Amino acid sequence: MKNRLGFGSVCARERKEIGFNPSHQLPIHATSSFVFDNLQEGIDVFAGRKPGHIYGRFGNPTVDTVAEKIASLEGYGLAEQPVCYLLSSGMAAVSTLAIALLKSGDKILTQGNIYGGTTSLFNQILAPLGIGCELTDLAQLDQVADQLKRDPAIRMIYAETPANPTLACVDLKGLAEVARNAGVWTAVDNTFATPYLQQPFALGIDFIVHSTTKYLNGHANTISGAVLGMDAGLMRTKVYAALKLLGTNANSWDAWLVHNGMKTLALRMERHCDNAQALAEFLEQHPKVARVNYLSLPSHPDHELAKRQMRRFGGMLSFELKGGLAAAHAFINRLELCTLAPTLGDVDTLVMHPVSMSHMNVPKEIREAAGITDGLVRISVGIEDAADLIGDVGGALEG
Ligand SMILES: Cc1ncc(COP(=O)(O)O)c(C=O)c1O
Repeated sequence: MKNRLGFGSVCARERKEIGFNPSHQLPIHATSSFVFDNLQEGIDVFAGRKPGHIYGRFGNPTVDTVAEKIASLEGYGLAEQPVCYLLSSGMAAVSTLAIALLKSGDKILTQGNIYGGTTSLFNQILAPLGIGCELTDLAQLDQVADQLKRDPAIRMIYAETPANPTLACVDLKGLAEVARNAGVWTAVDNTFATPYLQQPFALGIDFIVHSTTKYLNGHANTISGAVLGMDAGLMRTKVYAALKLLGTNANSWDAWLVHNGMKTLALRMERHCDNAQALAEFLEQHPKVARVNYLSLPSHPDHELAKRQMRRFGGMLSFELKGGLAAAHAFINRLELCTLAPTLGDVDTLVMHPVSMSHMNVPKEIREAAGITDGLVRISVGIEDAADLIGDVGGALEG
């Protein structure tokens, strides 16, 4: 540069990173674009002849590194590895996948007890675009096979297992088989189980979505999501094009937070499972509790299925108080250690009253048929000392 730069130019100019060897921890690439040494390099990267980043919405080294790590967890032990993209939320993952693969006239077949936001996405956003949504009980595989035969417009089955808040499960191996025979894609929300407890790809499922906001991050400090698929062609063309053009990519800061959280995923999940087991056993024998939904308990209708397709039974449970609505309100208001918050999968224990919060707009007869009664309380069991949790829950039950 011939002339000395002005002060403002020195302020504005980007500098090359100082350093000779790689940092131990993943750097946060807070940049909207990437530079080229010369025009030929730019042309080669744009043309795909040379690997490289172009623009932050198309990819970022921090974000891509974290996506690859999630792919290695969902593909752990498999001969082939899935392709993963990290997105701005769990909802971004579901919407990007659906818009990438489906067109007007196609239908999604799903179940009534998936996350409420996903149901609203299907009904309020996809339906007006001509992508329909049919509800069925995905646990009834003969019924599903029959429905696929009768309705060729169904192009994708979308399942959540275990599902909120009763932890009802779907037989993923059976579902994948039924769908494959009909030439229909399967997509599973694996947020509740995480790849540590359940690997849908190993059971034949085509696509996985995550709200990485939950267990993968584990510390309640990001909103982000992931979409994964075993068909690399579809992922790298259709799904990638959709995320790029919808702009549903994750940012590097959220990606870094998810990465940091995932380092302890295995440890956290073991502790979540231990604590949930201890709390479920305590609640099951309590005289004020009518019913406990936890997958390890032989009383749960999906206990045997969960044993087959999950490593352990997870950190989520729900239970019904004999005293109904008033007892649920009083119980929640008396808790001191557990926190009332509408999320899950964090290191601290979170409590939610579905009827007053997540399911407040669902008609009473529909939610009660799904086991979501006035006295039902959901707990995302954290990693505190089990004795403290039981003390807090026990104290709140006594009043
Ligand atoms: C099971 C499940 N899937 C998807 C979502 C949506 O995720 P996000 O809030 O990250 O968009 C949620 C949110 O609570 C969820 O519980």
